[in-house]
Amino acid sequence: MITKAFSFILPTDIRYGKDITSDLTILLKDREINQVLLVTDPGILKTTLVDQVVAYIKTAGAQVTIFSDVSPNPRDTEVTKGASIGIHANAEAIVAVGGGSPMDCAKSINVLMSLKKDSIKEFEGSGKVPRPLKPYFAIPTTAGTGSEVTWSSVINDTENQYKMTIKSTYMAATVALVDPALTTSVPAAITASTGMDALTHAIEAFTAKNANPISDALALQSVELITQSLLNAYRHGDDMQARDQMMMGSMLGGLAFSHSDVASVHCMAEALGGSLDLPHGLCNSILLPYVMEFNAPAAITRFARLAKAMGLTFDEENEGADLAVQFVKDLASSVELPQLNELAVTPEDFPRMAAIAMKNGSTPSNAREMTEIDYLNLFQRAYQG
Ligand SMILES: [Fe+2]
Repeated sequence: MITKAFSFILPTDIRYGKDITSDLTILLKDREINQVLLVTDPGILKTTLVDQVVAYIKTAGAQVTIFSDVSPNPRDTEVTKGASIGIHANAEAIVAVGGGSPMDCAKSINVLMSLKKDSIKEFEGSGKVPRPLKPYFAIPTTAGTGSEVTWSSVINDTENQYKMTIKSTYMAATVALVDPALTTSVPAAITASTGMDALTHAIEAFTAKNANPISDALALQSVELITQSLLNAYRHGDDMQARDQMMMGSMLGGLAFSHSDVASVHCMAEALGGSLDLPHGLCNSILLPYVMEFNAPAAITRFARLAKAMGLTFDEENEGADLAVQFVKDLASSVELPQLNELAVTPEDFPRMAAIAMKNGSTPSNAREMTEIDYLNLFQRAYQG
């Protein structure tokens, strides 16, 4: 088979390793930045990491204003507020410290702050940001979203109660400073949900219609690393090897889905999470095996390759795909994530969620063609457990 035409860009300078965060000082100095907006969340704000990052900024001779009103599912109103604070402070750069929420929020804040706008809604969709933005430095503290290397931002539209995606390569971090040691203090429950988000990225990126040979390589390596290490990272938070593998796996998954896409698991998870304000990774974890089961017949060879990357052995591709589904179910239960019927959701909610999932921009990327009825059936199937 001849390779389909594709392009592969990497807008972010990735710097990975222990204590790499200290590079921030020279990065700011080189760019002669005098004012920084630091975006984080209330939990991270209480940690000494923020003090450390503030010290790196001050050593560069810059002033810093902190914005930490960021919810687990960041809201459009928070983006507006953060941007207004940044504009007021004359911020010339943004530094985000935290998981996907502060990083996604920072990307959208940068759009409004750089373009002097007040509503992120007008940039919803792909390619609506007209020009380069101010420098943005991402310091991830969880292994899950891959947001440090992606150029999309998922923000809750509070008026219409759904998650919108804003996507532009201009939103990518200028530099990602990725230190896996920052994740050793992440609580087990968050390690579990963010880790399952990362695994979902890799699996969806590998099976999505726009996958290309480079995203495939990244996705398979991501699956291998995450499936080898998530349980250890969950059970032993200070296991540096597991944390390192999870951070690398999450980043590779982020790179893979930036070029391929996510697919129906994310479409359903965003419909579920947007309605109930639940952790994104938890929603993905609940839905992932059921969507895999549904998709497998449409891409059986790909699902068998995923099973191999998970270290599973089998003879027939069908058998491999079944084993991969079971492996994902068992992993989610080993890291003690709940099932759909354990959440504050009832089957009456499913038709509305199915309609929202159907409208998601990633629905056409799914390995198997989806209808609204398919989504409804999958929510019901997941609810049965
Ligand atoms: Fe995700």
